[in-house]
Formats: sequence, structure tokens, C-alpha cells
Amino acid sequence: MTDPIVYLNGQFLPLGEAKVSVLDRGFLFGDGVYEVIPVYGGKPFRLAEHLQRLDNSLAGIRMTSPLTAEQWSDLFDRLIRGDHDQSIYLQITRGAAPKRDHAFPKETPPTVFAMCNPIAPIPASGVRAITVQDIRWDWCHIKAVTLLANVLLRQQAVEQGCAEAILVRDGQAIEGAASNLFVVVDGILVTPPKGNRILPGITRDLVVELAQANAVPCQERDIAAEELSRAAEVWVTSSTREILPIVELDGRTVGNGSPGPVWARMNRLYQEFKETLRRGG
Ligand SMILES: Cc1ncc(COP(=O)(O)O)c(C=O)c1O
Repeated sequence: MTDPIVYLNGQFLPLGEAKVSVLDRGFLFGDGVYEVIPVYGGKPFRLAEHLQRLDNSLAGIRMTSPLTAEQWSDLFDRLIRGDHDQSIYLQITRGAAPKRDHAFPKETPPTVFAMCNPIAPIPASGVRAITVQDIRWDWCHIKAVTLLANVLLRQQAVEQGCAEAILVRDGQAIEGAASNLFVVVDGILVTPPKGNRILPGITRDLVVELAQANAVPCQERDIAAEELSRAAEVWVTSSTREILPIVELDGRTVGNGSPGPVWARMNRLYQEFKETLRRGG
């Protein structure tokens, strides 16, 4: 298989030739942010929303976007190949300073990297998950490349034969290690409110928007960890896993052990929304 073409600091080049300095602050400190943007029918999905979140993440670490929205869009068009489902990964770090120092370097250009990958098929029958203690920092609204806590928690799930870890902090179920959380309790769809404890997911926002537009009762409020065990449905959402039902949590069956009716409805609305985009609507 040929090396895919990626973008690095103004150049398009084969992945194997894309190299960054060992002094890059992304490598040394995890000092950078990233985005993952799904691409359907050759078009980035919810691009404006993803670029807005990128700007917010950059502002959160006191950086500004090195490219305009138009430049990002042109760059993505050059990376996207074919019309199969794929996703753009982009990462911006505070660059490679002459020496390792925690304080921000002066006049160091950022490192800008982007690549496009196929999206793995999503298991329609649902997946298993575990709950774990949220050991992350206090600024989870920033999509930072510093993902060690998320990596360790997801690995814990994988080692228990699960696809995701649901993070619990101060008695509240917060989100997944790489996804947002939805539950159906007493017939109402519930997701935690935005704030610094969760990543403001683009998929989450679209699910809330579609629920509101289609009269599906939906609340943005805290979810007590105990509610997970009585929820009729539990799902996680993300750009590459869309709306993924959890059918077993901590070894206990959720609902009747298969994806529930509210999931089926929201998933249909989500797929229809994607189709409209694919057809150019
Ligand atoms: C911690 C976390 N929460 C939520 C999400 C979902 O965000 P989005 O729907 O924008 O992909 C992600 C995505 O990777 C994530 O890492």
C-alpha cells in the first residue's frame, strides 16, 4: 500500500517522510490541541463547528489558529481521497523551541499536522463498557493532545473486553474516555451539560439539536452515577463512533441487552442528516 499524503507545516508529503523535531513541545509536554473531523461523501461534516471548537481549544492554551477557515478547508480538500467515510485528524502544537523549558517560547512557529484516515465500521449491535474514576485534569473542555489519563482509562476498558470507559467524578457520570454520554431515564434523553468537565462534542451537540427539532424529550443535566444502573439506554457519541449504544455496563445488561428504541430513533435521524450532507443538501 502506498504511503498516504499528509500535511506538515505547509507541505504535502508521504506519511513516512513527515518528521518533527524531538524538541517539539507536543512531544516534550503534550503542549498542543487537536481535532477529528468526519468526512462523508468527500465533505467534512460540521466543519464550521469543528473549526470553532479548534479556535476555542487554541484560545484555552493561549494560541491562535495558524490558518483561516478557508485555508483549513482547502487543506482538507487536498487530503481527502475518494468518497468513502473517513476522518481528518489535525494537530497544532506550540512548536519546537531551541531548548526544553516549560514557559512558552518566543517566536517559535507552531507545528501544524493533518492527515486523513478511513473510519472503522461501527458495531450496530452495541458494545460493552465499564465505569472508572475520572482522573483527568480540570480543563476537559480543551481538546488537548495531552491524553495520558484518557489512554490509561480506555486501556483499562480494553483489557476488560470493553469498548469504552465511562468516567465518574464526584458521584456524577461525566463522559466516555473519548466520547460524550447519553442515558435514557424515565423516557427522557439526558446528557451532562457543557462546562470544563466535558469535551463539548460536536456529535453530542447534533444529537441534542436533532432531539429538540424532532420533539424527543431531552435534558442537559448532571447524571448521577447511580442513574446508570437504572437507565433504560446508555450511549456514547463521537465523530468516529457516531451514536454507539452500550448494551452491557460493568458486567450488567443495560435495558434488554440490545440497542433501545430511543437510540434507534436518534440514530435514524442522525443517518438521515448525514445523507442530506452526502447528497449536497
Ligand atoms: C473526551 C472526549 N469527549 C467527547 C468526545 C466526542 O467529541 P466529538 O463528538 O466532537 O467527536 C471526544 C472525541 O474524541 C473525546 O475525546
